[in-house]
Amino acid sequence: MRWQKEFNLARYLITGAAGFIGRSIAAALLARGESVRGVDSLITGKRENLAGLEAMEFLQGDLADPETCQKACAGVEIVFHEAALASVPRSVADPIGTNVNCVDATLNLLVAARDAGVRRVVYAGSSSAYGDTPTLPKREDMVPKPISPYAVAKLAGEHYMQAFARVYGLETVVLR
Ligand SMILES: NC(=O)c1ccc[n+]([C@@H]2O[C@H](COP(=O)([O-])OP(=O)(O)OC[C@H]3O[C@@H](n4cnc5c(N)ncnc54)[C@H](O)[C@@H]3O)[C@@H](O)[C@H]2O)c1
Repeated sequence: MRWQKEFNLARYLITGAAGFIGRSIAAALLARGESVRGVDSLITGKRENLAGLEAMEFLQGDLADPETCQKACAGVEIVFHEAALASVPRSVADPIGTNVNCVDATLNLLVAARDAGVRRVVYAGSSSAYGDTPTLPKREDMVPKPISPYAVAKLAGEHYMQAFARVYGLETVVLR
């Protein structure tokens, strides 16, 4: 694990900050003058994606490691959880790897967020939860029918978000 600089208190944490969506959220928050910390293992994310995000505190670390999650969540108020192995084919080739980087990582993050007193965790859900149902438009009240290991892992993350809200009172939001 490498630290770019000493951590100060950060309002926002973005997981998967070196990925497609995470870096865009970071850029939008920084443009608003917010205090932002990013964490990414760079398993698929690219360091080049951090260009222009120099004002963000960046932690290179794996959320499958609970200690990384604790460090990432310290002093944070709101988490955007974007980190995942976001690939159906990859999950078919390596379902355990997808589980580790999606499910284990999400659970570790939630535990750390709860313990750090984070106010809200916003989770990137996936329409893969709907499976191959042809119905359009998709609606949140449709029964999930995940097919791929990726879809199962992303849906498990949704359920963990709901469980942590119900059981521990951690405010969670799932976006599909
Ligand atoms: N892009 C889409 O169209 C889309 C659609 C539906 C859902 N999503 C979800 O949105 C989120 C972001 O998607 P994206 O397109 O930006 O993906 P992305 O692959 O570009 O970014 C994901 C980032 O997470 C990082 N990461 C993976 N495992 C990690 C771990 N264990 N610890 C730390 N970092 C880790 C990767 O290195 C990568 O930088 C994902 O959760 C994905 O499932 C994306």
